[in-house]
Amino acid sequence: MASSEPQPKPAKPHVLLIPYPAQGHVNPFLKLAKALHARGFHVTFVHTEYNHGRLLRARGAAAFDAGDEGFRFETIPDGLPLSDLDATQDIWALCEATRRTGPAAVRGLVERLNRAGDAPPVSCVVADGAMGYVVHVAKEMGLPAYLFFTPSGCGFLAYLNFDQLVKRGYVPLKDESCFTNGYLDTPVDWIAGMLPGARLRDLPTFIRTTDPDDTMLTINIKQCELDSPAADGILLNTFDDLERRALGAIRARLPNTFTVGPLGPEVAPPSYLPSLTSSLWRGDDRCVAWLDGHAEAAGSVVYVNFGSITVVTGEQMDEFAWGLAAAGSPFLWVVRPDMVRDGGGWALPEGFAEAVAGRGLTVGWCDQEAVLEHPATGGFLSHCGWNSTLESLRAGVPLLCWPFFSEQVTNCRYACEEWGVGLEMPREAGREEVEAAVRELMGAEGRGAAARRKAAEWKEKARAAVAPGGSSCANLERFVQEMALAKC
Ligand code: UDX
Repeated sequence: MASSEPQPKPAKPHVLLIPYPAQGHVNPFLKLAKALHARGFHVTFVHTEYNHGRLLRARGAAAFDAGDEGFRFETIPDGLPLSDLDATQDIWALCEATRRTGPAAVRGLVERLNRAGDAPPVSCVVADGAMGYVVHVAKEMGLPAYLFFTPSGCGFLAYLNFDQLVKRGYVPLKDESCFTNGYLDTPVDWIAGMLPGARLRDLPTFIRTTDPDDTMLTINIKQCELDSPAADGILLNTFDDLERRALGAIRARLPNTFTVGPLGPEVAPPSYLPSLTSSLWRGDDRCVAWLDGHAEAAGSVVYVNFGSITVVTGEQMDEFAWGLAAAGSPFLWVVRPDMVRDGGGWALPEGFAEAVAGRGLTVGWCDQEAVLEHPATGGFLSHCGWNSTLESLRAGVPLLCWPFFSEQVTNCRYACEEWGVGLEMPREAGREEVEAAVRELMGAEGRGAAARRKAAEWKEKARAAVAPGGSSCANLERFVQEMALAKC
């Protein structure tokens, strides 16, 4: 006989999300966290103490206050000496330090959360692909664990082949001459799923080492060889139409791969838990109003931003400044406070303000998605970080590509050759090259106009992927089902 007693409510699934502590990782993780929360998960989001301090200074306590029982923030140390700087940490040192201290910190956190008993027990873990060791900690604790790789699918595919590059003798490089003697032009189109004509120079820059024990080379091999196959599944912030060939090769090795991108407003609307943000710098409020002032000339503004890690010399900044001044288009240029190597001393060159006469706005940080979505924005001079690339595609804005490091070079190659949305600017671009490249990007005809047309096509496809019935939308729901069932 069925009991008429009220049954206890089943505990919510409790997901622990652990991003790698850098801007380009915490942003997509927070969007994923909101999407999971909206689908009934209790969420614990883990920042490092350093980033928690930065967010607190940039956004105040509201950045951690969901006003809701089911979304909490926790911190773990990153293993580096404590500091109250507001700057991107050394990525190499951070990688080594988090690997050293991360496993014990994550284990301790799960134990503490479960002991506290004021939330459902942790039932699954989503860790950053750059912190693959978390998978093994989770498994030891009997928890299902997924890895979220925040770079592109094509970048991830390249990392999956780092071991082959070593086995076949391409990497490490024989000596320093390989950087300049054309060796990097060696074709690597034997990599299944890579775009035709791919060269060593199109693979993540961590292969550009002569040291067989190089930190980033060996960490990336380990992550792909040992950590990824041990995970219950892999998440990627991309969509099937965009990277079909690369994704086919990834799924041949890691069948349970979920493409859920682009993680944007469809997945996590800005109105959902709006105070929870992940921007480590405070955006300059003038940007949107300034763009409004240019809205009559739709697509007239060139937006310049090199992400959260790029560091350049003062001389290179001068070349950008004069190139932008000469190109003639209005521009919105983000110069991060820690962007110029060796010094807070860099300032816009003398005479620059007069030369651009109100045609440019220079700020320290902005709300990039709002800038890219603004109708006045017509081109993006970018370092091709994956979030920037995807946000630009989603907004239908063509790219002028100036990659700095990691898989940004891979993203650049795909943007220019495969997706047709990018033009590449030479690495050592002087002011004339900057001027010519910006003119070409913003031009009403020629390669810039062709890239603009392609970007408009990708905008539609990107939005369709995350709309109901789209591939990423379906994958997210499948992922949610799998995680919810994995509840202990
Ligand atoms: C880098 C990589 O290039 C990326 O591909 C890799 O996965 C992680 O490291 P980053 O330099 O941070 O990342 O670039 P990007 O991936 O583009 O991420 C930057 C994020 O910060 C974007 O989401 C962007 O919208 C945001 N941002 C950047 C702002 O909101 N305002 C700014 O002024 C600059």
